[in-house]
Amino acid sequence: MGYGKRIDTLCSLLVKAETFADVGCDHGYCSEYMLKNDLCERAILSDISKGSLAKAETLLAPYIRQGRATSVLGDGFLGVPKDVDEVLIAGMGGSEIVSILSDEKYGFMPKRFDFSRCTTRKNYVDISLKTVDISIGILRSKMGNFTT
Ligand SMILES: C[S@@+](CC[C@H](N)C(=O)[O-])C[C@H]1O[C@@H](n2cnc3c(N)ncnc32)[C@H](O)[C@@H]1O
Repeated sequence: MGYGKRIDTLCSLLVKAETFADVGCDHGYCSEYMLKNDLCERAILSDISKGSLAKAETLLAPYIRQGRATSVLGDGFLGVPKDVDEVLIAGMGGSEIVSILSDEKYGFMPKRFDFSRCTTRKNYVDISLKTVDISIGILRSKMGNFTT
């Protein structure tokens, strides 16, 4: 894949879905992987930061023009429909992830939810990658330390 070890590992855990939402997308690499490999029909790129979202919009401009990708500037699941097939939240702290899922107005548990919790310590980032298939209650997990 060539995005670097952490993003490549994340991408390897994603599954084929009609609609895919990348919440806190920043650069948009995971959405690019999904779109480029025809693993999703449509992707929603969402970020709370205008500057971060702009990076994904630049990277994915051809897909946005084709109507296969839509960008949303906002907090958490704002603009993410509840019937979305797969949601990724990666690179946020655990409490941030929980607050997005449980937000009174916009929170919900996606059909398929992939997340990587990120904790910064001294000079490395400890990532626990967990992919939860809510519908059948199967938990797959990979743990690893990745340099930043
Ligand atoms: C460390 S980056 C991770 C980017 C990418 N998902 C990855 O794993 O490489 C975290 C991103 O989440 C965004 N973010 C943080 N809190 C957010 C929230 N509540 N809703 C949406 N985006 C958020 C930040 O602006 C930033 O772009």
